[in-house]
Amino acid sequence: MSKDVQIECRNMWKIFGDDPEGFMERHNGAPTSENLHDEGYIGAVRDVSFDVHAGEILIIMGLSGSGKSTVIRCITRLNDPTAGSIMYEGQDLLAADEKELIDIRRHKMGMVFQNFGLLPHRDVMSNVAFPLEVQGVDKQAREQKAREMIDLVGLGGRESYFPRELSGGQQQRVGIARSLAVEPDVWFLDEPFSALDPLIRAEMQDEFIRLQQMLKKTIVFITHDFEEATKLADRIGIMKDGYLVQLSTPEEMVLNPANDYVAEFARKAPRDRIVSVGAIMTPEAAAGRTSENGVSSRALIGEVAEQVLNADGTVDVVDENMAVIGTLTRQRMSKALFGRDGV
Ligand SMILES: Nc1ncnc2c1ncn2[C@@H]1O[C@H](COP(=O)(O)OP(=O)(O)OP(=O)(O)O)[C@@H](O)[C@H]1O
Ligand SMILES: [Mg+2]
Repeated sequence: MSKDVQIECRNMWKIFGDDPEGFMERHNGAPTSENLHDEGYIGAVRDVSFDVHAGEILIIMGLSGSGKSTVIRCITRLNDPTAGSIMYEGQDLLAADEKELIDIRRHKMGMVFQNFGLLPHRDVMSNVAFPLEVQGVDKQAREQKAREMIDLVGLGGRESYFPRELSGGQQQRVGIARSLAVEPDVWFLDEPFSALDPLIRAEMQDEFIRLQQMLKKTIVFITHDFEEATKLADRIGIMKDGYLVQLSTPEEMVLNPANDYVAEFARKAPRDRIVSVGAIMTPEAAAGRTSENGVSSRALIGEVAEQVLNADGTVDVVDENMAVIGTLTRQRMSKALFGRDGV
């Protein structure tokens, strides 16, 4: 396993039904959609393989019922996968016994749920300190840690409020603080912002980006919303009917969607903020030329759109040393921005 891989899933299946193991065996470990349908089984996760890299934000997207939550539930072993392997920092999670598992879950993993999942009869302090209480941390130490986390999410002063006295956004901040109290290495968030109205949602996304810049966790984050995904993601995985149909950077997904289903998601993406100049330029064979007024290959197309669209002819694309490595026309820029030629 390479050094920066934190979680490695290989050929993971999760089948729901009366006898999933027997069903898998009858079909040599690779049942088809027809097999599932005919025998009344549900293929929630089907032959899914991917790595989660240390420090990345991996977003999982897909329509309702495509298997997103089940993938996270398998990794955290809230569900047992029917087949496949999951390695966590080189340790075989499926071979771990109950005690090891509880230990990993309590100390290394943090979870945030869509419906907040707060304890209604406990106040903010006690909700955030709860996972530490479960770990057996003494009262003073856990309250100190909880207070730090409450401050971190901007709820200082509300320690003694009860969940019902907080807005949805505030309740989810409590959920976030609680999940961070144990200082997890990996942070799982299952549609954390989808119950919030759009303005609060955008605010929470910014807050999340701010937190991640400080904390640099490894994150697996589920959302329905492609725009949210492109705002937050290092990489996006798209699921359909239990399959992981594409896993790539947002840029790659927008430029080269694997199929129509992915293209449909990518169609709504803000291309100007995702695609870089280098991805759409016409590369120039080592000409040894430099240019003072070229555009950087690393710039996002939205940042230089005006310059390119207003230029008379072709614009040079340069690397960090101002060496020309390609060119860009108005037509190409227009096509990348709007999906069609001409200006
Ligand atoms: N405990 C269960 N028993 C039977 N079927 C289940 C169970 N949990 C999930 N499923 C089924 O597995 C499939 C995938 O469910 P999952 O919750 O992973 O979807 P999802 O992509 O998270 O959907 P949503 O966006 O609605 O949250 C669905 O068809 C669901 O009905
Ligand atoms: Mg779900």
